[in-house]
Amino acid sequence: MTAYVPFAEPSFGRAEEEAVLRVVRSGWVSTGIEARAFEEEFAGYVGTAHAVALNSCTAALHVALRAYGIGPGDEVIVPTMTFTATAAAVVHAGATPVLADVVPDHLTLDPDQVKSLLTTRTRAIVPVHYGGRMALLGPLREICAAHGLRLIEDAAHTLPARDGADAAGRVGDASAFSFFATKPITTAEGGMLCTDDPRIADEARRWSLHGLSRGAVNRYRPGHPAAYDVDRPGFKYNMSDLAAALGRAQLAGADRLHARRTAIAEVYLRELAGLERLELPPPDTAANRSSWYLFPVRLRAAGAVRREAFRRRLHTLGVGTSVHFEPLHRFSWYRDHAVRAGQTFPVADRIADTLISLPVFPAMDEAAVARVVAAVRRAHDEPDPSRDGTRG
Ligand SMILES: Cc1ncc(COP(=O)(O)O)c(C=O)c1O
Repeated sequence: MTAYVPFAEPSFGRAEEEAVLRVVRSGWVSTGIEARAFEEEFAGYVGTAHAVALNSCTAALHVALRAYGIGPGDEVIVPTMTFTATAAAVVHAGATPVLADVVPDHLTLDPDQVKSLLTTRTRAIVPVHYGGRMALLGPLREICAAHGLRLIEDAAHTLPARDGADAAGRVGDASAFSFFATKPITTAEGGMLCTDDPRIADEARRWSLHGLSRGAVNRYRPGHPAAYDVDRPGFKYNMSDLAAALGRAQLAGADRLHARRTAIAEVYLRELAGLERLELPPPDTAANRSSWYLFPVRLRAAGAVRREAFRRRLHTLGVGTSVHFEPLHRFSWYRDHAVRAGQTFPVADRIADTLISLPVFPAMDEAAVARVVAAVRRAHDEPDPSRDGTRG
């Protein structure tokens, strides 16, 4: 029997070990040539002119908003079906997040909802490519063009993903990727801001490193002047060379890692098809490819209690799971600060309590995938444990 299958685990090999050792032995571990090289390679992979390496996706969203001058008095529309970081970055910038409902199939920002939430204060839209499936960027791009808004992609889940000619991260004015431990590629913690606009890349760089005119590596080297200017009270968001080296090794394997995620998703789609109580995520089409960062299944007609009982049963059968996401409008802070009077979120509220994310990480071998399939089938066929005992 295979060991417990965790919800997620990074895929590190010799290349990652050697990359980290290379930096450890180099005498320079903070932001330097590895971070620059990672930026160039990442921009090349995504297809944008510029990339700025940062210590998180949250930081990338924050500096993108600051770079566009979005702040107090401004509103930014984000989906309710996301991690708090998407909306928190808006708050960090001093602006107000406005939550919007999502479309039922892909759980991404609903463009009609967005239209209904526009005001004279709206400055940007931040769609999330939920689970790795691209948001409806065509209609959102049109809304942005018609109203003079910025489109900033939260591409935390997508490396890579496509929708026709659009690739995640190169459609918006700017995009933010995450390299958190569970993400499609990881630097343990890290993020990347991508944009075609050199001014935005420059601004983001300044904001991310204390507002310094020159980074440390360029001040310490022999023959380089020590002087620098501070033209704003910036943040401390730079990526270390240690993290960047890990990122470069991961990026070199990104297509292989994506192919493995896709293969696992295809097994689930085939082997879990037809289970009466389980709804599977939409499959890839020739034109629309998910990064398969997540494999979110829906337990039909479940509530939170039944969903948690199902997750507990999977756990006892040796399978770790997660939930993406508790919608933001249900959290106390967002309920009080980001929901308009009388606003409702019928799609998110209908689906949120049914969602369970199954493990879908590249390091899973065939036995681990088979174990997940068997556990889900078994839990599915058993009587609902949340309905017995004291509940009668
Ligand atoms: C949709 C989304 N946006 C942003 C983030 C924040 O990423 P990071 O942890 O790199 O700041 C996450 C993290 O999981 C996320 O899921």
